[in-house]
Amino acid sequence: MSSLPTYDPSAALAVLGGDALLKNADALHAARDETMRDVDLLASGDVPAGKQPLDSGFIKWPEKLLAEYESGGDSSLVGRVQTVGTRLKEETDRVVSLGIGGSYMGLRAIFEALYSPHHNQRSRSARREVPCLSFGGFNMDNDQTWSLLDLLKDCYTNPDEVTGRWSIVVISKSGGTLETAAAFRIFRQAAEAYYGEGSDALKQYVVPVTGASGKLHDLSTQAGYADEFAIPDGIGGRFSVLTAVGLLPAAALGVDVVAMLRGAKDMTDCFANGTVGDCPVLDYVGVCHAAEADHGMTIRLLSTWGDRLEAFGFWYDQLLSESLGKEEKGATPITGVQTRDLHSRGQQHQEGRRDKLITNLFVKEPVAPEVTLPKVDDDRDLDQLNRFAGKSMQTLLTAAFEGTNKAYADDRRPTADLTVERLDAYSLGALFQFFMLATACEGRLIGVNPYGQPGVEAYKKNMVEILSR
Ligand code: PA5
Repeated sequence: MSSLPTYDPSAALAVLGGDALLKNADALHAARDETMRDVDLLASGDVPAGKQPLDSGFIKWPEKLLAEYESGGDSSLVGRVQTVGTRLKEETDRVVSLGIGGSYMGLRAIFEALYSPHHNQRSRSARREVPCLSFGGFNMDNDQTWSLLDLLKDCYTNPDEVTGRWSIVVISKSGGTLETAAAFRIFRQAAEAYYGEGSDALKQYVVPVTGASGKLHDLSTQAGYADEFAIPDGIGGRFSVLTAVGLLPAAALGVDVVAMLRGAKDMTDCFANGTVGDCPVLDYVGVCHAAEADHGMTIRLLSTWGDRLEAFGFWYDQLLSESLGKEEKGATPITGVQTRDLHSRGQQHQEGRRDKLITNLFVKEPVAPEVTLPKVDDDRDLDQLNRFAGKSMQTLLTAAFEGTNKAYADDRRPTADLTVERLDAYSLGALFQFFMLATACEGRLIGVNPYGQPGVEAYKKNMVEILSR
C-alpha cells in the first residue's frame, strides 16, 4: 500500500523566517474551516451571492464515490466507469480523448505519470493490452488535428479486429467549448465513416462526458450513444479530474481508479483534521503565502524531478492560474522538470530575481526497474565515469536534487520538498487532492473566490464575434 505524500518546508522556513508558518496559524485554520464549510454550503443549495460560484463539491467527492461503490458495486458511478472503461480497453486499440483545460490536463497528467513515455509506440502485447491514448480538441491546430486523423486512417483498417478499432471519449462540462466541439465534429465524422453512421460499434465506442444539459448532451442523446457520464454541478472543470472526466479514460487504461479515489479521500481527511505544522496542505499554503505576502515571491515553481510529472505540473499551472489569478492577485505558476531545466532555467533560479518559491516534487522510487551505470575496462574509462559505476539513475537524480537544494540554501533561496514514496494511482490521487485543497484554501485565505474563471470569457466573446462576421 502506498502512502500519502509528505511536505518538508524546513529549508524554506530557514529563509522566510522560522515563525512564517506559525504566525499565520489562526488565519490558516480559519481558511481551512471555511473551505470545509463550503462543502455543506454547497449541499444546502442556498449559496449566498458573495460566495458564487461555489465549486467545492470536489472536496468530499472521493469519499462519496467510494461509499457509493461499496454499497452499490457495479451500479455505482465507479462501477459504471470500470465497466465502460474495461469495454474500451478490451475492445479498442486506441482511445482518442477530446477536451481542453480541466477536461484535458488531468488525464494527461495521469497518463504521463503512470505510463511509459513510449507507451503509444509499443505493440499491443508489449502494452499489456492497454490501448494507446491520443489527445485532440485541446487546441485549434490544423496540423495536429490532421496528423491524428491521418494516423487513425493509417493504423486502423479492420474494425472487425480489436487492433483495428479506436474509440472516442469526448469531455466537456459546458458541452459548448469551441475547441472540443469542433474536434468532436471532425472525429465523429471520421468514426461514422469508419464504423458506419448509427452502427452499434459507433454507439459503443463514442462516450461523452459532459454536464447534465448542454449541446454535447443533446448531441449524445440524438446519436443514441450507449453510455454518457455526467460531470456534476458543483465541481468546476479544473477540479474535476477525479470525476468521470479523469476516471473514465483512466479506467480505459487500466488505472486502479478506486486506489486513486482512496488517496484523494485520505488527503481530504488529513486536511480536514490536521493542524499547522502537522498538515501538508496547510503547511504548503502557509509557506506559499508567507513567501508571497512577506517576501514578494510571486513566482511559484513546481520543480518536478524526473519526467513523469511534467504534465502534472501543467495541470497545476491551470489550477492555480484560473483559481487565484483574479483581482490583480495570485502567484504565477511555473512547471520545471529537473535535471532538464537546470540546464536552461537553473541559472535564473540560482542567481536571478529573488521572486521565486521552489517546491520540489520528488518521487523516491522509480516505477521501472533500476538502470545503473555500467563499469568499463580502465583503458576505456575516458569519460571517467567508472568512479560512479554501479550507481543507479535514481541515485544520480537524488544527488542532483540534494546538490541543487544545497546550492539554493547556501544563497538563501527558499525551497520546500513534497515527497512521494512511489508514484501509483493512490499517491497520484492524493497529489491531485493536495493541490486542489491547497488552492481552494489559499483562495479563502487571501479573499479571492477560487472557483469560476470570469477572465477567460472575454477572448471567447471576441473570437465568436470574429468568426461570425
Ligand atoms: O476550469 C474550468 O472550468 C475550465 O478551464 C474548463 O475546464 C475549460 O474551459 C474547458 O471547459 P469545458 O469542460 O466546459 O469544455
